[in-house]
Amino acid sequence: MENLITLVNNIQRACTALGDHGEGSALPTLWDELPSIAVVGGQSSGKSSVLESVVGKDFLPRGAGIVTRRPLVLQLHRINEGREYAEFMHMPKKKFTDFAAVRKEISDETDRETGQSKMISTVPIHLSIYSPNVVNLTLVDLPGLTKVAVDGQPESIVQDIENMVRSYIEKPNCIILAISPANQDLATSDAIKISREVDPKGERTFGVLTKIDLMDKGTDAVDILDGKSYKLKYPWIGVVNRSQADINKSVDMIAARRREHEYFASSPEYRHLANRMGSEYLGKVLSKHLETVIKSRIPGLQSLISKTIGELEAELSRLGKPIATDAGGKLYMIMEICRTFDQIFKEHLDGVRPGGDKI
Ligand code: GDP
Ligand code: NA
Ligand code: MG
Repeated sequence: MENLITLVNNIQRACTALGDHGEGSALPTLWDELPSIAVVGGQSSGKSSVLESVVGKDFLPRGAGIVTRRPLVLQLHRINEGREYAEFMHMPKKKFTDFAAVRKEISDETDRETGQSKMISTVPIHLSIYSPNVVNLTLVDLPGLTKVAVDGQPESIVQDIENMVRSYIEKPNCIILAISPANQDLATSDAIKISREVDPKGERTFGVLTKIDLMDKGTDAVDILDGKSYKLKYPWIGVVNRSQADINKSVDMIAARRREHEYFASSPEYRHLANRMGSEYLGKVLSKHLETVIKSRIPGLQSLISKTIGELEAELSRLGKPIATDAGGKLYMIMEICRTFDQIFKEHLDGVRPGGDKI
């Protein structure tokens, strides 16, 4: 984890530094291509709850019915020190340190665009969280898929939501968190239906089963969690989020996690799976996956860096030495960063190269 954060931060630093230099402009583009994670599923399947658990903070509106009515594009930025805060793109000057106020602003901003209705809007809300406790990452919370229009919603709403969701998850760099509630048949899962459409081999889909605590007595989710009902490339992960009663009582995340852990560890059906269940484990799996994806992109980054070093050397020799000008100094600095990167990449690649002995 720590390793990944450092690697991602270093790549980001280099991108920023190289972005100042015209020739390196391909690198920020690569940064943009690093994966985002989107949650999909039926209405009230637990999408917002799962996203909150992954982030480890209470800040999203949750509840029965249609609560998430605009896409929320959430960028997590790791800072080295200082107090964590949040910032909305539509309110650039305001720093939020109270996350209950963040939740309220998401609701208010949703209403500003759609009215206090059950209408949806494709216009995303952009929120950034700056914290020492997060990994640089983009997460997207999406409105839930539905079957029928309700309460004055236009008939087109079912298709509109589906199109909106698809526009996010069809991007090849999108990691899909497909959320299915355990108290409904998997065969009716909207999450599985739409993710299979855009990712037929299940190569970038993580199946998450929520509401395991709400299953009918006498039934269990063992077959699903073992991949016997619907196979994905990555193992299914079961979670127990906070119930509506917990939300009303403001049960905090730490208490909820402890209870979730106990739930899996103490139930006879799930005890044997307990070490690969739960929100905390899901967060770890996603980090690990992200690390793999990033590593797979290192060779591309590396050749770009080599090319940049070559260009910088040519430019420096054209300027002539010794260089006292600002331009020369800056080029030297960028070249130093590139060289450092070249080194970092080599080290990380040693760990992934087939036959390398570092794994
Ligand atoms: P979304 O509409 O998919 O974003 O779902 P939410 O996260 O808003 O959750 C919908 C409702 O289901 C809320 O009242 C949650 O408290 C409840 N909920 C979500 N996951 C679980 C779970 O694992 N167990 C229980 N008991 N309730 C859950
Ligand atoms: Na809901
Ligand atoms: Mg939601």
